[in-house]
Amino acid sequence: MLDSQRIKMACATHYCIGKHILVYDEIDSTNTEAFRLGALPEGSVLIADFQTQGKGRAGKRWQAEKGKNILMSVVLRPRTHGANLGLLSLLAAEAVAETVEHLTQLPTEIKYPNDVVVLHKKIAGVLVEARSNSTQTHTVVLGIGLNVNQTVFDEALPATSLKLLTAQDFDRTETLTALLRRLDEQYHVFQQGKTAEMLHAWKARCTMIGKVVVFRHEGRVRTGKAIDVDEVGFLWIESEGERVRYAQTEISDVRY
Ligand code: BTN
Repeated sequence: MLDSQRIKMACATHYCIGKHILVYDEIDSTNTEAFRLGALPEGSVLIADFQTQGKGRAGKRWQAEKGKNILMSVVLRPRTHGANLGLLSLLAAEAVAETVEHLTQLPTEIKYPNDVVVLHKKIAGVLVEARSNSTQTHTVVLGIGLNVNQTVFDEALPATSLKLLTAQDFDRTETLTALLRRLDEQYHVFQQGKTAEMLHAWKARCTMIGKVVVFRHEGRVRTGKAIDVDEVGFLWIESEGERVRYAQTEISDVRY
């Protein structure tokens, strides 16, 4: 079980993420709950021991055993143009990857746009959902699923966890604290408009640029060469001499 008092005491972050924490034994999805509650302060974190309807990217499910992992959502209200929201998902993946690398001491990669991968197996995923109101205030919910102490996964999906990688049990409160601190620092930098360094770090972890990629767009499987990810997090792909710019939400099942 997650100890809500301990989590609240331990998560001493500097800026806004983690100042308000909601802990659930069971919920349908922390992302769904974040939008349902609506007026939560910026930086609120919702964390659950178990989700009955965990959501993944591209309409997929996120399944995780009860009591073993980190399943959380962070509520953000970025002061930024809507187009920059794609960068937030890269920022979240970079913060998770840095945390995983620090905890495992293993090289940690990012598979575009925001799967965190160690030794070719996925350890974490990020689902970013955004809603805007009439005043153009964006509420962004960053959903993060990090496999911590789970050791059995569906064989169809090559997955791993902190425990499988290190043969150690991890304290989820400590793991969560480490992750929230990194997210908090990186989001503070993002809010100041200084995104170049984060994007540089993200690109260094993402081995896709320059490779031929196969991906799904509008229900069709396409192929092309990944040219770059630009300063707002869009992917440029060259195919048959033409360069096309894709938002992260426009493509899925990227393989390379
Ligand atoms: C993916 O890789 O497909 C993204 C997975 C995101 C899963 C997390 S778990 C916490 C939060 N709540 C959800 O319903 N999904 C995200």
